[in-house]
Amino acid sequence: MIVLRPYQSTIAPNMNYTSPVKICCIGAGYVGGPTMAMIAKQCPDIQVHVVDLNQARIDRWNSDELPVYEPGLDEVVKEARGRNLTFSTQVDAAISEANIIFIAVNTPTKSFGIGAGRAANLEFIEKCARQIAKCSKGHKLVVEKSTLPVRTAEAVKRILSSAANGATFDVLSNPEFLAEGTAVQDLLHPDRVLIGGESSEAVERLAQVYGRWISRERILTTNLWSSELSKLAANAFLAQRVSSINAISALCEATGADVDEVAKAIGTDSRIGSKFLKSSVGFGGSCFQKDILNLVYLCEHFGLREVAQYWEQVVVMNDYQKRRFSERIVRTMFNTVSDKKIGIWGFAFKKDTNDTRESAAIHVCRDLLEERARLAIYDPRVPESQIREELQLAFADSVGGLSDKHKKLIETNVTVVGDAYAAANEAHAIAVLTEWDEFKSVDSRRILEDMRRPAFVFDGRNILDRNKLVEQGFEVHSIGRPSK
Ligand code: UDX
Ligand code: ADP
Repeated sequence: MIVLRPYQSTIAPNMNYTSPVKICCIGAGYVGGPTMAMIAKQCPDIQVHVVDLNQARIDRWNSDELPVYEPGLDEVVKEARGRNLTFSTQVDAAISEANIIFIAVNTPTKSFGIGAGRAANLEFIEKCARQIAKCSKGHKLVVEKSTLPVRTAEAVKRILSSAANGATFDVLSNPEFLAEGTAVQDLLHPDRVLIGGESSEAVERLAQVYGRWISRERILTTNLWSSELSKLAANAFLAQRVSSINAISALCEATGADVDEVAKAIGTDSRIGSKFLKSSVGFGGSCFQKDILNLVYLCEHFGLREVAQYWEQVVVMNDYQKRRFSERIVRTMFNTVSDKKIGIWGFAFKKDTNDTRESAAIHVCRDLLEERARLAIYDPRVPESQIREELQLAFADSVGGLSDKHKKLIETNVTVVGDAYAAANEAHAIAVLTEWDEFKSVDSRRILEDMRRPAFVFDGRNILDRNKLVEQGFEVHSIGRPSK
C-alpha cells in the first residue's frame, strides 16, 4: 500500500463536517502561537482561539511584546489579533466552542521513572485529551501538533472514547516542521504539510484549512503512524547531518583541513546537498535531542538494539562537540580559566530566536564555570532572568535541587551585559556561541583595545572574519580549522 500521496480532494462533505470551522489550540508556545497566528492571518473567516494555562504567557501574546521572538511574527499577530485570533486561559470554553482542536503542548524528555532521559513525558498530552473529552459535545476533530512518540494517537483516541457527553472524535497527526528563527517564512511556504489520519473526511477538513494558502501538491497524507514517525525521522536525519559534519570538524582540526571547505566540496554533490552542513559548537533546541532520544527509546522498546545505538550516536557526538569546545578553550588558555573573564557572545540555541532550550551555550558556560571562569554573557534577545534560570538548571541534580556552592558560583561569576563590547571589555577571551548577525559587524579594533593579551577568540559558529582578526592581532580558534 502506498501511504504517502499528494493530497487530492475527492471527498464529499461528511455530515459531521458541514459547519464553519472554529479552531482552538491548546498550548501557546513556540509551535502553537506562530502556527495559529498564521492560520488566522490567512483565513480571516476562521475563528482561532489559542489557550494556555500560563497566564503570563497569554498576557504577553495579548501585548506588544510577544513571548516568542520570530522575525515577522509581530506583523502577523497584529493583523489577526482582535479580528479572528484570540489568546486566553479559558481552556474549557475554547474546547467546547471549537470543532477543530489542535494539541500543541510541550512533550519534554522524561526526567524521572521508566524511560527517564529518553522517553517523552506525555503527561501534558494526556491531560489535554482528558480535558477535551470532558468539555466536548457533538463531533470534533482533534489534531496532534506536538511531536509525539509513534502510536500516541491511539492513546489519545482511547482517552477521548471515554467522553461522557456522547461526543465523538477523529484524531489526526499534523506535525509541525517549522524551524525557529524562520517560523513565519516556513509557515507561509512550507516544503510540505503532513496530515496523518484514518478518516478521509477529517483529513479533507484540515487540508482545506491549509489549502487556503498552500498548494495541494504540498499537502501530503499518510496513515497516523507514518505521520508521527515521519516527524521523528525528519529531525533525526537533520540532526544526524549536523553531527556528521561536526565529527568531520574534529578530524579537520587534527589534520589541517578546513571544515567549511569540506562542507562546500561535499555539499555540491547534488545527492548530498549543501544545506544543514554548518559545523558548530553543537546543535540545540527543543526538538533534535528530544526526538532522537524518543526514537532511541522506541527502537529499544521494539528490541531493535542496533538501530537504537545507531541513532543514539548522533546525540553522543553532539555532547562530545560541546565538551570538546569548552575543553579547547581551557587548554588553549594555558590550562586555566580560573578567575579569567570570558565574554560569551550569544546564548540562544540559534540566531533569530529567544529560545534557549538545550542551547549549546548552556553546556559550554557550565563547563567554564566549573573551571571557575568569570563569564560576561550577552545575547540580543535572551533576558538575564532566563540565562540565570538555564544555568541553575544546568547545575541542578536529578530532582531539581541546586547546591549552595553552585548557586553562589552563578551569582558571583556570571554577569549579563547589554552588548558585545561590554562582554569583551577587559576579557581574556571571547567565545561566540550563537551566530547572531550583529557579531559579524562589531568594531574588532575597539574590541581588541579593550581586551587582555593574548586576545583569544573562540568562534563556535565560524562566523567571524578569521584572517582579518588574526591580522589585527587576535589569536583565533574556529571550529574545524587549525588554530591561527
Ligand atoms: C528543527 C527542525 O529544523 C524543524 O523542522 C522542526 O520542526 C523542529 O526542529 P529548530 O530546532 O527550530 O528546528 O532549528 P534548526 O534550524 O533545525 O537548528 C537546530 C540546531 O542545529 C541549532 O542549534 C542550529 O544552530 C544547529 N545547526 C543547524 C547547526 O549547527 N548546523 C547546521 O548546519 C544547521
Ligand atoms: P513548543 O515549543 O512545543 O511549542 P512550549 O513549551 O513553547 O512548547 O509550549 C507549550 C505550551 O503548552 C506551554 O506554554 C504550556 O504552558 C502549555 N500547556 C501545557 N499543558 C497544557 C494544558 N493542559 N492546557 C493548556 N496549556 C498547556
